[in-house]
Amino acid sequence: MRTHDQSVQDQFDSRAQAYLSSQVHAQGPDLAHAKSLVKQALPATGHALDVGCGAGHLSFALAPSLARVVAVDPSPNMLATVGQAAAAQGLVQIDTRQASAESLPFADSSFDLASTRYSAHHWRHLEAALQEMRRVLKPRGYLLVIDIVGYEDPLVDTHLQSMELLRDPSHVRNRSAKEWQSVLGAVGYADIQHAQWPLRLAFAPWVERMRTPLERISVIRAMQNEAPREVQEALAFEPDGSFTVRTGLFWARPA
Ligand SMILES: C[S@@+](CC[C@H](N)C(=O)[O-])C[C@H]1O[C@@H](n2cnc3c(N)ncnc32)[C@H](O)[C@@H]1O
Repeated sequence: MRTHDQSVQDQFDSRAQAYLSSQVHAQGPDLAHAKSLVKQALPATGHALDVGCGAGHLSFALAPSLARVVAVDPSPNMLATVGQAAAAQGLVQIDTRQASAESLPFADSSFDLASTRYSAHHWRHLEAALQEMRRVLKPRGYLLVIDIVGYEDPLVDTHLQSMELLRDPSHVRNRSAKEWQSVLGAVGYADIQHAQWPLRLAFAPWVERMRTPLERISVIRAMQNEAPREVQEALAFEPDGSFTVRTGLFWARPA
């Protein structure tokens, strides 16, 4: 029986190229917003951490405005892919380091920015990870979190989390905006800014990226077809199974 960490490794380590070419990950208004926040708030000498970097799209977006970005992920193949793509783009500011969010191998107060994108919904120990990010942040540094946000309506939320888990056994939870505000406050972040955008997930690439087995794809499709109208409308289900969720961005500072 595998552990959650092994499940993350199994799901992601062989999928680095799929995440490098994924349009959902390579693009998005959240990336443009993150770039502009970082440009306004941080000096060009700034050092940033990208936790759960995957194939590196957040690191690639932020690196041109900064002196150093350390891209961290437990998956060696993701890190190798980031290294190759960074070299191909001439982004010499990017270094890679194998680690998990819950245990970051860096000294206290090392970074001006601790960031993460589309990774936190895989973290088992969210509070511990956010505390680690706070520990390695300078006292006047910034935290940037981007992730798919869950729904306040439990009916809609349960359907979304179930589809996510059927598609990818390493899914833990999409936290709602309220949950994010509360956990960020509890860990000691303040001045929290929040922005949100719709994110359309085209069904075929969504399941192909994670190599979801056919029998689980059938269960997801059945669940969508049988879902009550409130869920169908909230998640904007389309005839081919594509649907629309929300990407949330949180920007905060240590209190
Ligand atoms: C969807 S990818 C990230 C996408 C990427 N950040 C981007 O902007 O395109 C999710 C990544 O989170 C990583 N991950 C999962 N659990 C983690 C943890 N506990 N700590 C750090 N990274 C983790 C996975 O290995 C995977 O590479």
